[in-house]
Formats: sequence, structure tokens, C-alpha cells
Amino acid sequence: MTRIRKAVIPAAGLGTRFYPLTRSQPKELLPIVDKPVIQYVVEEVVASGINEILIITGRGKEALTAYFEDHPLDGERGASFGIDSLPPINFVNQRQQKGLADAVRYAKNFVGDEPFALVLGDTIYTSKTDVPVTAQLLAAYERLNSPVIAVERVQHEKISDYGIIDGKEIEKGIWKIDALIEKPEPQNAPSDLGITGTYVLASDIFEMINKIQPGKNGEYQLTDALALLQKERPIYGVEFEGTRYDIGTKELWIKAFAEFTRKDVRFSNLI
Ligand code: G1P
Repeated sequence: MTRIRKAVIPAAGLGTRFYPLTRSQPKELLPIVDKPVIQYVVEEVVASGINEILIITGRGKEALTAYFEDHPLDGERGASFGIDSLPPINFVNQRQQKGLADAVRYAKNFVGDEPFALVLGDTIYTSKTDVPVTAQLLAAYERLNSPVIAVERVQHEKISDYGIIDGKEIEKGIWKIDALIEKPEPQNAPSDLGITGTYVLASDIFEMINKIQPGKNGEYQLTDALALLQKERPIYGVEFEGTRYDIGTKELWIKAFAEFTRKDVRFSNLI
């Protein structure tokens, strides 16, 4: 286990690709079998040794806060799904949905001077080993003593859905990054290594966020802040061992639901 204790989970996005469902339903509360996506994310960071959590919410996301409040049925008929064993969860509201980097800005006070895990609220991982993906990233941060970003190879035609890195593979699966570009067109992308949404960062990211201008799609992009940081000190991309389920689109959510259901002995006969 590492000494990094804090995780920040951005869950403030508008859910554009799920509209109109996301008018009042946060995509992070979509079920995967019988638990909402956000609970998988929280369980993953807790299993990785994190014991202080901040969830960044936004307009129309009140149900996310409610989900983590005590409930009269907790502890009855197994209904609590282990919520009571989770550490306290803090919330902060992004006032305007101006992009991921702007959302991360709201974590500054919570983070203080400590390194922290940043784990997107709409992405679930399953690990091929006993080590959760967040824990793999925390260990890489400690070993390299530098910010690290989870990456995986993405299909060429999907490149424009991701932040893309370029770099040199200094050891198997560890890339010393020399460029980061948010959602390039496939023909302009320097590689097919996509940023998957788990980062371990230090407090100097906030200085970089303060320096950037709105970027791709007019939003403050974390990838742009990381590109500034990379000019000052080494940052590494880490190809993790595990499978990523991004539930940000209808197709991917349906796919993740089906795969998790198929693997669940209680329900696998239904699908
Ligand atoms: C965000 C990041 C992007 C990353 C992606 C992973 O984009 O900006 O760099 O590749 O998450 O899901 P979003 O999917 O929120 O548009």
C-alpha cells in the first residue's frame, strides 16, 4: 500500500452523449447489474488504499450526493452494498460545467500539498491481477516519483474521443511522455495511446490549470494542463493490466452492463 491517501473523482460533466436521459439522471448513477457506476469507482479507490474521497458534482447531479447519505434500509436484507464500510465522502459542486480541468480546480483545498489519485467517475476497471488499476498507478507514482497517467491503445477511428500521448517506452508499458493532445483527429495523432481517465498527480497541477486557456470544444482541458506540466518535469504514461469500461456512451454502457451481467452467477442465465 502507498502513502497516497486522497482520491478526487470528477463526476460533473453534462452527460451530453446520454442526453436526454442525463437531464436529471447523472450518468455516474447508471446501474451496472445492481450497483451504480460511481460505486464501482469508489470501491476501486478504497481497495487501492485511499481513505479520503472528494466527488466533484455539477448541476443536475444532486442524486449523487443522496446516494452516499445514510439510508433507512442500510444493513437490511443486504441492501446497503457495503456503503457503511466506505470512508466519508466529501462533495463539491462545480458551478459551471467548463471542462475537466476546471472541475479539478475545485479539489485544490481538499488536496492541499499531497499527491492524489484522480479517477473519472464514469469509468470502471476490472484488474487482471489482484492489484486494482488505481493501485497500479499509485505504485508507479511512488516508484517514478512523478505524475503518472493510465493509458491504453485505442482503435484508430476512436482516437478523437481521447487525450493522446506521445513518448518513449523506457521499460515495458511505461512511457516517458513528450507530448499530450486532447482529442486529435486520427490523422494528426502522434500515437494510438489514449488517456483512460486515471491519473496520480501532485499539487503543481493546479498552477498549470491556472495557466491554460479554453481548448478543445471550448473547455478547460486537463490534457492541456498536463502538457504544460510535462515541459517542467517528467510525466509517465502507464499501460495498466486490466480492462476498462467507459460508460460515457449508450453503446459502451450497454456493452458493460451485458458483460458484467454475463459474469455474475446470479443473473448470467438471463442474458
Ligand atoms: C476525458 C479527458 C480525455 C480522456 C477521457 C477518457 O474526456 O479529457 O483526455 O481521454 O476523459 O475517458 P471526456 O471523455 O470527458 O470527453
